[in-house]
Amino acid sequence: MALASIFFGEEAFNQLREVLRSGDYTKVGLLVDSNTFECCYPNFMEALAMEVPQLELIEIEPGEESKSLEILASLWESLGELQFDRNSLIINLGGGVVSDLGGFMAATYMRGIDFINFPTSLLAMADAAVGSKTGINFGAYKNRIGSFSDPLMVGIIPDFLKSLTEQELYSGWAEMLKHGLISDLQHWNALYQFDLEEKIPSKRLLQESIAIKAKIVEADKKEGGLRKVLNFGHSVGHALESYYASIQSPISHGHAVALGMQVELFISAQKFPWDQVVYDSVQEYLRQYYNWPELPVDQEAFLRLLAGDKKNQASKIRLVLLRGIGSPEIDQEIAPALVWDALTKVVDG
Ligand SMILES: NC(=O)c1ccc[n+]([C@@H]2O[C@H](COP(=O)([O-])OP(=O)(O)OC[C@H]3O[C@@H](n4cnc5c(N)ncnc54)[C@H](O)[C@@H]3O)[C@@H](O)[C@H]2O)c1
Repeated sequence: MALASIFFGEEAFNQLREVLRSGDYTKVGLLVDSNTFECCYPNFMEALAMEVPQLELIEIEPGEESKSLEILASLWESLGELQFDRNSLIINLGGGVVSDLGGFMAATYMRGIDFINFPTSLLAMADAAVGSKTGINFGAYKNRIGSFSDPLMVGIIPDFLKSLTEQELYSGWAEMLKHGLISDLQHWNALYQFDLEEKIPSKRLLQESIAIKAKIVEADKKEGGLRKVLNFGHSVGHALESYYASIQSPISHGHAVALGMQVELFISAQKFPWDQVVYDSVQEYLRQYYNWPELPVDQEAFLRLLAGDKKNQASKIRLVLLRGIGSPEIDQEIAPALVWDALTKVVDG
């Protein structure tokens, strides 16, 4: 995903109009879910301000359940019925579910057709739609089937965020906080000082955050090394996300990542000489906006999830830790018992 193919605001619509006027495409599909159809589609069409005669609207149900093989198969079928050929284009207008599913649908239909992302959730703008990863869930596993595929372009329209729920806004904000923590003290400070309760993230903050992700992905698309830094907070976060889902008390992905960052930050400060004042301010900020659910975490279940359900739970796991803000260290081997110890201390404050 090249940073150069990510456009903001009116410039994104200019680029899209150019693509549509190029005459390169026989058919154009616009994938939405029912929420983004209601909240974003009217504004999208108005801002596009252009007739797209060959536009086919394709709508799915909102939510993670749509990222399934069944829905994907029904979409392939629809494309066939609508006579989409190899010179067709898909525009994904939605959150991470729409861009993951729509991207993979495009990457696989007739061995791959072009697609464009217009993300509408903060998580998709800062993360899902700009990472070159597409895919669906399979069996019990999230994102098990997928591809590395680049969209032709990505259009970021901050105004779409106005209809997002507070919970979804904070879920995406956690990924932006992560971008600040892994790469840039200045960006972290700008996020820290921003009042998300009062307003949606500014174009400048979005640009900075997306640039951090896009540059990392550009340098290491397939996660050979550098890209692993994006997993900060995610090892513990994923285990917590799965754990709370398993006890029917789900929390958002971003909330889980923010809790994961609290634990991984604690371990970081044990291993590396953090400035205490900086450490306290980061930890307090994360705790203020992302609290721990009342329900206690079951040690055995958590460690099983942390180890990825591997048989040998005694073996060490690898985390991304921080030497300080902007200084990540990948592949840090930690005993699961230490992670549990850190978690209990963080929960107790
Ligand atoms: N490909 C990647 O690199 C990557 C990275 C991170 C996450 N993901 C995936 O992204 C998905 C999560 O993304 P998400 O949080 O955007 O989920 P989502 O697409 O389910 O969106 C969350 C909710 O917000 C609604 N919504 C979206 N935009 C809206 C708007 N502007 N106004 C009102 N409602 C709106 C959606 O309909 C949905 O109900 C997961 O499937 C995750 O695996 C992928």
